[in-house]
Amino acid sequence: MDAITLLTTRYSSSRLTEPAPAGEALELIKQAALKVPDHGGLKPWRFVIFQGKTALAKLGDIFAEAAVEEDPSIANELLERARQLPLRAPMVIACIAKCSEHAKVPLQEQVQSAACSVMAMQQAAFALGFGGIWRTGAYAQYEFVKQTLGLGEDDEIVGYLYLGTCAGEAPQRPVPDTNHFFSYFE
Ligand SMILES: Cc1cc2nc3c(=O)[nH]c(=O)nc-3n(C[C@H](O)[C@H](O)[C@H](O)COP(=O)(O)O)c2cc1C
Repeated sequence: MDAITLLTTRYSSSRLTEPAPAGEALELIKQAALKVPDHGGLKPWRFVIFQGKTALAKLGDIFAEAAVEEDPSIANELLERARQLPLRAPMVIACIAKCSEHAKVPLQEQVQSAACSVMAMQQAAFALGFGGIWRTGAYAQYEFVKQTLGLGEDDEIVGYLYLGTCAGEAPQRPVPDTNHFFSYFE
């Protein structure tokens, strides 16, 4: 797939099944994550890969424990839902902005760089014939999750990239009219 086709036709897939990217494909996806713009060359990115049922179930347990910490009286049904969230794909990559104080590079720019990594990986996966979706939600914010995944005080979870093979149809979503979003300064 050429780059312009990728950029103008990519889409997210929420219905994902086996196989997840592996071997050379996964290596290329990882490399794409590390080729993003990076002010100051700080490399403010860390990634934790949850691959396979056992690891994904463990992430589900972490989500459930976080949910209980937030609300000790949480309903069992909601708790079970939290546990099942990561199992919606054969692979989930927790994408972390590893931020440090810097005289010229505000924390926000480090978070932006890490966000670019998520997009780069999603695009690389798409170009290689895989599907993915960038998700966040409350489980990207909860302290319990951050601590368990080893985040420092200034670090952020910028997203969970769910990866696998598309199980659904490609969405029919035309590119919006560029004129609504771009104007020329006069
Ligand atoms: C920072 C960020 C967080 C997101 N979080 C979620 C999420 O938690 N759940 C979800 O269904 N989509 C989430 N999305 C949206 C999807 O990743 C995706 O962009 C959306 O479904 C539109 O699909 P498309 O990429 O094919 O246009 C998020 C997107 C961004 C940029």
